[in-house]
Amino acid sequence: MRVALATCSLLPDGTDDDRALAAALAGLDVRAEPVVWDADADWSRHDLVVVRTTWDYTHRPGEFLAWADGLPHVLNPAPVLRWNIDKRYLRDLADAGVPVVPTRWDPADVPSDWPEYVIKPAVSAGSRDTARWSAAEADAARAHLRELRDAGRTVMVQPYLSHIDTAGEKALVFLDGEFSHAARKAPILAPGTGVQGLVVPGDGRGAVTGATATPAELDVARRALAAVPGAPELLYARVDLVPGPDGAPVVLELELTEPNLFLSHGPDAVSVLAKAVAARL
Ligand SMILES: Nc1ncnc2c1ncn2[C@@H]1O[C@H](COP(=O)(O)OP(=O)(O)O)[C@@H](O)[C@H]1O
Ligand SMILES: [Mg+2]
Repeated sequence: MRVALATCSLLPDGTDDDRALAAALAGLDVRAEPVVWDADADWSRHDLVVVRTTWDYTHRPGEFLAWADGLPHVLNPAPVLRWNIDKRYLRDLADAGVPVVPTRWDPADVPSDWPEYVIKPAVSAGSRDTARWSAAEADAARAHLRELRDAGRTVMVQPYLSHIDTAGEKALVFLDGEFSHAARKAPILAPGTGVQGLVVPGDGRGAVTGATATPAELDVARRALAAVPGAPELLYARVDLVPGPDGAPVVLELELTEPNLFLSHGPDAVSVLAKAVAARL
């Protein structure tokens, strides 16, 4: 049996996690190899495509979804990817009663009632085109909002959830439907720096460390997963939580497309994921 671990041209060999997964799959007589999603590959050679590090699709979401639709067997399934690459899914979660970050969708102007806020596009990854603004920076914030709107992108405006500065962001990783492990990600958005590019390595922003999940975090994460349309059997999922305005956890992001699964932070995570992949073949 052969499995493709879909990656991007910036990372043709995948990540350490992908290599660990491929080694564990080899022990189960499954041959796994990284394949660049938009390369001219013969996908019929693979019994299964597992989406892993396709981190450059956000500029071409239509192309990415067409690629996924054309694959005979891809996980997570293509309809899940379609729902999940656009953060408007947060509205579905909110409708299902799951606590999510308070969000204004496509507002005509910047908020006047929040001292600090975040402007970001609904289709993004790695904090691209995302920035934190204060009330004193309204002109620059307005230009950011207009730039995204003029590019035809759905804009999200959220209060800056300042508990993240001390608590960080908590990622809860689920493998084959079961909670596996958690990790903490340090805050990323520095104040007053305008539109952020990628995180500069080594400056501590977004640094990932091991963590445990509280019962309240597990509860919110499970409710978020239960609200995914069609109740699909997910191979992997990551639920990113931050303390909301009152300190209780809210969903910042539900990552079912190409999450970094921080496998080294789960003692059995590589072997659990490898067995789950093998079982789907
Ligand atoms: N409302 C918010 N309050 C505080 N920090 C935020 C907020 N929204 C985003 N961030 C920061 O920006 C980062 C990227 O935003 P996120 O919504 O996770 O999008 P993505 O990871 O898809 O780029 C988060 O990891 C977090 O550090
Ligand atoms: Mg994120």
